[in-house]
Amino acid sequence: MTRQNENPQDNGWPGIFSDTAIEHMENPQNVGSIHNADGFGSVDGTCGDNMEMWLKISGDTIDDIKFWTDGCETTIAAGSITTLMARGKPIGEAMKINEQDVLLALGGFPEDGLHCISLAVKTLKAAIADYLRYKNDPWKRSYQK
Ligand code: FES
Repeated sequence: MTRQNENPQDNGWPGIFSDTAIEHMENPQNVGSIHNADGFGSVDGTCGDNMEMWLKISGDTIDDIKFWTDGCETTIAAGSITTLMARGKPIGEAMKINEQDVLLALGGFPEDGLHCISLAVKTLKAAIADYLRYKNDPWKRSYQK
């Protein structure tokens, strides 16, 4: 189900969004950071917005995940649902989450918001790659700062 704003200036949602997308814009999940994270990703989108993600891994499963972005509401919704989709998944499954999966989970997105989804997925993959890089030698992480 989607909602079309009759007057986009009334509520600030300039386009068609599903109820799910609006829910994630208004009440984003997993916002924040994780101290001593096992994986961290920071990616700049094509628009210049940045997203960061932190992972806590337990037995190769994403036990906790948080994100932060300086982007707009659509970026926040994409980060929120992407982290929800990844939480509780084994790393191998989380790595397979792609833009289409997130788009479907959001119930569709306006075309000009697709790069926000891409930013969230790329940030998740960067955080996973960071975890895998140091998985066997976590002590090396402190030497990379
Ligand atoms: S508007 Fe910049 S990532 Fe969405």
